[in-house]
Amino acid sequence: MSSKPRKILVTSALPYANGSIHIGHLVEYIQTDIWVRFQKMAGHDCYYVCADDTHGTPIMLRAQQEGITPEALIERVHGEHLGDFTDFHIAFNNYYSTNSDENRELSQGIYRELKTNGLIDIRTIEQLYDPQKKMFLPDRFIKGSCPNCKAEDQYGDSCEVCGATYGPTDLIAPYSAVSGAKPVLKESEHHFFKLGECEEFLKQWLLESGDQAPLQAEATNKISEWFESGLKDWDISRDAPYFGFEIPDAPGKYFYVWLDAPIGYMASFKNLCKQKGLDFDAYWKPESDAEIYHFIGKDILYFHALFWPATLKFSGYRTPNKICVHGFLTVNGQKMSKSRGTFIMARTYLNHLKPEYLRYYFAAKLSDRIEDIDLNLEDFVARVNSNLVGKYINIASRSAGFIKKRYDNKLSATLDSAGHTMLQTIQAKQAEIAILYEGRQFSEAMREIMALADIANEYVDETKPWVLAKEEGQDENLHQICTSIVNAFRLLTIYLKPVLPQLAQQVEEFLNIKPLVWADNGHLVLDHEIKPYKHMITRIEAKQIESMMAESTENLKKTEHSPTRHGQAQQNKEDVMEHISYEDFAKVDLRIARIVKADHVEGADKLLQLTLDIGEQNTRNVFAGIKSAYAPEELQDKLTVMVANLAPRKMRFGISEGMVLAAGPGGKELWILEPHEGAQPGMKVK
Ligand code: 2FM
Ligand code: ZN
Repeated sequence: MSSKPRKILVTSALPYANGSIHIGHLVEYIQTDIWVRFQKMAGHDCYYVCADDTHGTPIMLRAQQEGITPEALIERVHGEHLGDFTDFHIAFNNYYSTNSDENRELSQGIYRELKTNGLIDIRTIEQLYDPQKKMFLPDRFIKGSCPNCKAEDQYGDSCEVCGATYGPTDLIAPYSAVSGAKPVLKESEHHFFKLGECEEFLKQWLLESGDQAPLQAEATNKISEWFESGLKDWDISRDAPYFGFEIPDAPGKYFYVWLDAPIGYMASFKNLCKQKGLDFDAYWKPESDAEIYHFIGKDILYFHALFWPATLKFSGYRTPNKICVHGFLTVNGQKMSKSRGTFIMARTYLNHLKPEYLRYYFAAKLSDRIEDIDLNLEDFVARVNSNLVGKYINIASRSAGFIKKRYDNKLSATLDSAGHTMLQTIQAKQAEIAILYEGRQFSEAMREIMALADIANEYVDETKPWVLAKEEGQDENLHQICTSIVNAFRLLTIYLKPVLPQLAQQVEEFLNIKPLVWADNGHLVLDHEIKPYKHMITRIEAKQIESMMAESTENLKKTEHSPTRHGQAQQNKEDVMEHISYEDFAKVDLRIARIVKADHVEGADKLLQLTLDIGEQNTRNVFAGIKSAYAPEELQDKLTVMVANLAPRKMRFGISEGMVLAAGPGGKELWILEPHEGAQPGMKVK
């Protein structure tokens, strides 16, 4: 590790602002976040920026469908995305939007430079146009029968039935997926970026940089194939109506979303520079000594490895150091599937499981290769339970109790020699683990760390603190052993902190120490008071996985559209219904209650005051809005159902300590729920 801090700027791909984050997305954000956290822990000036990718036809149409402006849509989604990322402990330095002033200025500036450098060409092209909606149609918005197998309702670029690829004009009986109208061919002027003219530069950048190669070998091979088939010029404009930035001096023409999306990396950083007083040019100008890393999925390699560096180079900016490409996520060996319940949204996962389980599992699977990674749910449970909980967290619980009970939470000032040797073995791996993190070999890093956890556990098994605790005259020995164990736990926490930031924070609180950094591996904590041990993370139960998958299947039902052949999928009302998780529901304590007393409330038109017996001599005062349907005497002695754990609410007439359940449209037609005989006050309703 160099002594001078490196200046590093890191990005993850910008998620589209028209969909939710799912666990497939999270592979990338977790991978990037681990890498960034490692760099920060190692003392480098590392910034991680991202943004929502907000422009383009799908977002424009989605907003129309919802009856809101694109700006309102992207603002809402921005909040949802950031909430999901934050809850997965993805710590961006800035999470911005491509629909920003910074991005407009940068995109227009870059375009102008490209034009000045003779790299923009304007040509007239013919494209399918929706005469009803008065818009040109992207391929995905034209449907028709496959020219190859004749399957109906196929998209304009490929057939989902026979796999054939073709152009939208090849479709039989094409129709607009937006309005259902028959599209017509129409001419329009388009702006092209002359990528073909950048070939020499790109070849030299990609293929001749040796050790400093910006791509993994597998990606470089792919690019070589693209070079062989020749680089085509890139159509960077779209006609109005389009949600995006207008092209300078070209009214009615907009930048294609993929032109301004990667510039969104720069824009997000520029915005961060304003907030932090950083020097934007020091990162992005050709003379920059900073390092730039883009983490992306394999599906967007062409954009990042060809268009993007060419755009940067010929508009006066520098190119990235590395484009770190990862594969896709499969679940149980297959593509994520809505019907199998394996298309799991980030929020659905969080409703059932802790984020750190997934962070650990992905880390245990990720490497610097482009291959897909599999989330096998059985293996997920087994690996998290045996490694994270069984091997790592348990180390702390195996000694902390003694330190509290016998030594007043104080660690010893000295260690025994076996403990010392064990700790040195763990410390000695620091450099190796750092290299693995740096090289994105996270699965190797996890393997090394768990091997060290095994060594710590062997030490515990051999020293048997629970036996020593019962023996006379072992006080000092036991103290030293427990101190070694706590120190082993601390060292492992340093190594795991990039992956498990929240857990590491809990450990820091338990150990009563400052936030751990990479260099803290060089010393131990001795003669130091710690805090009482609190349980930090529990094992995953199979039923948590089951309920997560059940909720995912439910989500599918919610989001299933009723597509009409001539028209965009209609969103039904159910789509917008908010669901609560099973856990949320389980929090509601429903009890059988006997109405022992019912009274009018002076001055209240709608309320009756109920005294409810919920067993074990427990009574509750509840104000219920059922006066329109019941006279107090009718209620006397009736059994009903109440929410017993609702926070007490101060009302004008007193404190209401719960709620009774009633059904019906209101007025006279309102019925309190009355359980069958046999139910007794206090019984839990399940
Ligand atoms: O593929 C996608 O989801 C794009 N929204 C990624 C954009 S990455 C960057 F170039 F902006
Ligand atoms: Zn076909």
